[in-house]
Amino acid sequence: MKLTAKNFKNYAKLLDSYSQFTPSPLSIKKFIDFGLNACEQKSYIFLRKELPVRLANIMKEIALLPENLLRMPSVHAVHDWYMRSFQEILEFEKTEDNPSNLKRFCDSLVKIRNRHSDVVETMAQGVLELKESHDVDHQTEHSVQYFLDRFYMSRISIRMLINQHTLLFGGQLERAPGPNKSKYIGCIDPHCNLVSVIQDAYENARFLCDQYYLASPELVVEQHTVDEPKPESDIRIVYVPSHLYHMLFELFKNSMRAVMEYHAPRDQYPPIKLTISKGKEDVCLKMSDRGGGIPRSLHDQLFKYMYSTAPQPSKSDAHTVPLAGYGYGLPISRLYARYFHGDLLIMSCEGYGTDAVIYLKALSNEANELLPIFNKTTSKFYRTAVPIGDWTNQAATLNSRQIALQCKKHQLPQSVREAI
Ligand SMILES: Nc1ncnc2c1ncn2[C@@H]1O[C@H](COP(=O)(O)OP(=O)(O)OP(=O)(O)O)[C@@H](O)[C@H]1O
Ligand SMILES: [Mg+2]
Repeated sequence: MKLTAKNFKNYAKLLDSYSQFTPSPLSIKKFIDFGLNACEQKSYIFLRKELPVRLANIMKEIALLPENLLRMPSVHAVHDWYMRSFQEILEFEKTEDNPSNLKRFCDSLVKIRNRHSDVVETMAQGVLELKESHDVDHQTEHSVQYFLDRFYMSRISIRMLINQHTLLFGGQLERAPGPNKSKYIGCIDPHCNLVSVIQDAYENARFLCDQYYLASPELVVEQHTVDEPKPESDIRIVYVPSHLYHMLFELFKNSMRAVMEYHAPRDQYPPIKLTISKGKEDVCLKMSDRGGGIPRSLHDQLFKYMYSTAPQPSKSDAHTVPLAGYGYGLPISRLYARYFHGDLLIMSCEGYGTDAVIYLKALSNEANELLPIFNKTTSKFYRTAVPIGDWTNQAATLNSRQIALQCKKHQLPQSVREAI
């Protein structure tokens, strides 16, 4: 859909007005309760306002990005997708909730989800384009990091809403009676078996590791709960398995790579240990590897987009092998953990290994969405200069990619470099 000058004015007005609303965060419990008594009309009425609100809140922020980033072709493409999706949902602003409109709405959501499926890679490409064509100063680096965290979090939340609606009302399995009825409520599993998600993520990461290194570390899993120190059955929680899978898969890939590189000369690979614990408030999944750890001077870099000790993929790889070596694994995984008010922490001992801990909320009514809000503080952030430190500081003024490229300890072998 092309924007003419006239409807652009109208579009800008709508964007302004929807961005004035604060997004309404939902808890996993709310998603479940709604899913159990699923009413399509209700969901339609909620989403036709909530989706444009979430889109408008983040689109106002795109406009605040540094000029030279906004000019990058990939960032342009992403902006265009958002504008189109915003307009498409607004077509339902005042339409009746009759069956034909409900069906059209569901179809539009599927179309929007597909349109946005490459947003992370494309935005990453935009940042690469900027870095290749300009000298990126500290201020820009800071703004981009702040923006990407909020932008990707917003995307996770919008996809969650779209998935819930389309799975509950557009899917076949979920509606089917009897044995075909899915145990999932949309994309939430009310009895998510942690060990089976761990196994899944491990097997898939191991497959990649075996391909690259012709071997892989074993996995050891231990479970603990606050009531039973050694529970007899697997721990289950209410969660979105695909989110948990994403985090674990990324952590396994990192741990496997570290273990394989660090122990390569000895040809013997210590196992990766996963400790699960379920308390009254938190569920923790701790992945411990003996991959030689990360120097403390690099800890601040780990969650930065683009920070990677893997070689930077070339442009032609960007769409065939998404994110490999972009340095997006940890920051995106932490967003998934934080989305429902959990977290992801890394603790490392250089010369030994690394612990990565995923924290999740044990109670589904406490697992509330964490959403970015566009307001005056946001605008101020992009305009204010990065504060100058008032402590003596030894840190070199290198950017993260430069630091990364100087730290070749975990660099993949030539064959792997070619593969990614
Ligand atoms: N368990 C670990 N042991 C040692 N170093 C690690 C570990 N986990 C992460 N790192 C370091 O942190 C860097 C960033 O990790 P991250 O997962 O974000 O990106 P990446 O693995 O380089 O690329 P990708 O986007 O494919 O995940 C890695 O390149 C690696 O140097
Ligand atoms: Mg990684």
